[in-house]
Amino acid sequence: MLPPVIIYGTTYCEDTEQVRRFLQAHGVPFIEVDIDRDQQAESFVLFINRGYRSTPTVVIGEGKAKIVLTEPSDQELAQSLRQAGYTLSNTLSDKEDAMSEISGYTYGTPAVARSPISSEEFEDLKKAVLFSKEDERYLRQAGEVLKDQVEEVLDLWYGFVGSHPHLVYYFTDGQGNALGDYLAAVRKRFGQWILDTCNRPYDQSWLDYQHEIGLRHHRTKKNQTDGVNAVEHVPLRYLIAFIYPITATIKPFLAKKGHSPEDVDKMYQAWFKSVVLQVALWSAPYANAGDH
Ligand code: HEM
Repeated sequence: MLPPVIIYGTTYCEDTEQVRRFLQAHGVPFIEVDIDRDQQAESFVLFINRGYRSTPTVVIGEGKAKIVLTEPSDQELAQSLRQAGYTLSNTLSDKEDAMSEISGYTYGTPAVARSPISSEEFEDLKKAVLFSKEDERYLRQAGEVLKDQVEEVLDLWYGFVGSHPHLVYYFTDGQGNALGDYLAAVRKRFGQWILDTCNRPYDQSWLDYQHEIGLRHHRTKKNQTDGVNAVEHVPLRYLIAFIYPITATIKPFLAKKGHSPEDVDKMYQAWFKSVVLQVALWSAPYANAGDH
């Protein structure tokens, strides 16, 4: 019998909340120790994190097999839990399994560079786009609504790109030949992006992957993930212009599951803010040093 996971955290810490939610969603037993109330636990956290009061600090397993993680991403948690012998139940783990089959999808892995945006700058950017806790809640709802409509959404978006030669151009070799395998590989990651936009916590891993997506549109990294010889760069002006179709077209899908018009609008607003936020982050490689 595996011991419960121990979360050393605080009641107001968002990352602690994320780990709690993850473990609950996967049916992994855990206990929580509030380091504001337990001095010994606080000392343990300070010791493990070389003097930093980092929360959550998570202890998985016991004895020699014990794994200690600080502020882990969902993927790190999943990996360590499996390594320690825990079984992750329900749909989230199915999603993560599916994730590993998406070629070139490197979310939460060391292959993703660190975002140049600090967490303070990120918080300020969220405020600039009026992104709130309420939006996070409505994005989760949108995730539920969209999860079985992803292919239909992609059909629409790909139809839109496909019907505009100046857009499909970026999926060609520049000589008029569309690269079918490239389109198909990107489509899978695009589908995952819809789910990530709705379901992922907007933490460091998320921030880092936004930077990665920006790089993948920019000549710095475009084509590398799929090893193709396509047009080398997507211009920034199109990333910005695309915010409109990517947002406007989602509304009918959000309305398909019988939610009230108010709820549909809240989901829609949350989606809109998130897409603007993301494109703002993706623009980093396009700006001169110091200008972003
Ligand atoms: C709001 C606007 C846009 C969104 C939300 C978006 C979303 C995405 C996503 C999620 C990916 C896959 C990222 C990954 O590898 O995990 C991707 C890749 C790509 N997108 Fe976009 N995109 C946008 C605008 C555009 C535009 C305007 C074009 C050009 C017509 C474009 C062309 C591409 C290409 C060519 C790739 C593959 C890049 C590579 O070589 O890795 N995207 N996009």
